[in-house]
Amino acid sequence: MFKWTPSLSVGVEVIDRQHQELFMLFEDLSKDLQEEKGDVHVGRAIGFLEDYVRKHFTLEEKYMRVLEYPDYNSHRMQHEEFIESFNALKVHFEKRDMSLLASGITGVIYHWLVNHVSKTDKAMGEFLKDKIDNYYE
Ligand SMILES: [Fe+2]
Ligand SMILES: [Fe+2]
Repeated sequence: MFKWTPSLSVGVEVIDRQHQELFMLFEDLSKDLQEEKGDVHVGRAIGFLEDYVRKHFTLEEKYMRVLEYPDYNSHRMQHEEFIESFNALKVHFEKRDMSLLASGITGVIYHWLVNHVSKTDKAMGEFLKDKIDNYYE
């Protein structure tokens, strides 16, 4: 269900690769919950996912700033909203409310992810893709 498809490509390789990884990490976490893996395992998966999300947002935001993307601020606000939703998920986990955690992942997070990638990130990719070749490190 948490599948990245080529229609979600934003046209910038490094960003597409990270998106694929993000979708896989969410899928793994949702499977872990279905299979009722232990709290330590799920906690570790959440921590790893959180680090990955932050790393991904930092990269996009860096490209947008350096290449002077005009919609930088509204894009960054969507990232912040996502972090808030993610923090809410962590609270479910801390309270060991696994069913709310599972429905949060499949509902809010998944739909946010698809929506954000297919619209907001795609628009950003259109702007960045021609300019980024000179900037790749
Ligand atoms: Fe983004
Ligand atoms: Fe993204």
